Amino acid sequence: MTTVDLLIVGAGELVTMAGGPRRGARLKDPAAIPGGALAAKDGRIVAVGLADEVLAAVRTGPDTCVIDARGRAVIPGFVDPHTHLCFAGDRAEEFALRLGGATYQEIAARGGGILNTVRATREASQVELVTLGLRRLDQLALAGTTTVEVKSGYGLTTEHELKQLRAIREMDRRHPLTVVPTFMGAHEVPPEHRSRPEAYVDLLVEEMLPAVAAEPGLARFADVFTERGVFSVADSRRILQRAKELGFGLKVHADELSDLGGAMLAAEMGAISAEHLLHASDEGLRRLAEAGTVAVCLPGTSFCLMNAPYARARRMVELGCTVALASDYNPGSCPAYSMPFMITLACMHLGLDPSEALAAATINAAAAIGHESEVGSLEVGKLADVVILSSPTHRHIPYHMGMGVVAQVVKQGRLIVD
Ligand code: NIG
Ligand code: FE
Repeated sequence: MTTVDLLIVGAGELVTMAGGPRRGARLKDPAAIPGGALAAKDGRIVAVGLADEVLAAVRTGPDTCVIDARGRAVIPGFVDPHTHLCFAGDRAEEFALRLGGATYQEIAARGGGILNTVRATREASQVELVTLGLRRLDQLALAGTTTVEVKSGYGLTTEHELKQLRAIREMDRRHPLTVVPTFMGAHEVPPEHRSRPEAYVDLLVEEMLPAVAAEPGLARFADVFTERGVFSVADSRRILQRAKELGFGLKVHADELSDLGGAMLAAEMGAISAEHLLHASDEGLRRLAEAGTVAVCLPGTSFCLMNAPYARARRMVELGCTVALASDYNPGSCPAYSMPFMITLACMHLGLDPSEALAAATINAAAAIGHESEVGSLEVGKLADVVILSSPTHRHIPYHMGMGVVAQVVKQGRLIVD
């Protein structure tokens, strides 16, 4: 019998999310076990299920951390598959301008928006970016996130993109959270290439992508902002094609501000995910379902942009898409990182019920970054990434508007928030 490092007993409700990523009607199934228990050793789950079975299969020793979760729900740690949390500066001034009626696009056209953060991020050193990022990861952990994707895209030169990606790698090494890096040099056309944007696409394809690929582990995915006035479908296809040849998984910021065909492009290229999709057409969503490309919804961005619609998540479910949720945490369009808050918005504005929203924020979110065999559900062999709620069921997450619902967080078998 194994002596375990961690034992969680008496869960009011143990939401396992077992059974892989969910589509269609299956999205509703949290695979919950009332009064369940979970045991972990060396960072991985070794037993999970009915308390009697788990207690019969493992034993505790003097060093075992035992958590009594009586009256509290136990769920998989949240996976946030889309953030831009490696940045310097902030955009509070622009937020005030938007409250006064200016739109995100107007501010961007005046040289603000992403380019505002590019200026601040270029000025920051790698060490400064790491310090800022580690603090943000602490905040994410407090809100129950245990795995997070982080994009570059505020450097927009080879040197500054590499600096950002190295900062992201350092965050992963120094912080308990799992950090999954994405290269997003195609986030915006930098000021020095504004007169000839094609030259920036050349630079991305000929220099930046190969430079990132040359440093193993620096980025797992490449992402493109396919949008009017940013990267056209043709430019995006060229960038994604090169990225694919170099071995990156593909992600697309698709149909966020207009329906440009980003979802269709993501499906055509075999991207792992298409993100935002506020304006995606039924045809675009159908193609995502066919291609098995995960549809990532970011309701915090619609909430923050104020004049934007919400993604049609209900329609996505009907059409057979794998729907995931993410925060989009960034200094402009969504300065919020709380996945419980995103679950609340998903229930209030995307038409998902609490079980669906939780599946979208855990197992389906893991599928959006190719981590579904490691995280996103509580199953034997997976990482012991667990959240203990302060409430008896997962339905309390949206009910409390995402506030104060996370009591304890376990990352790879170790209590990191208590
Ligand atoms: O996902 N769309 C592009 N990127 C971000 C915004 C980043 C920013 O405003 O700094 C987004 O909304
Ligand atoms: Fe984004």
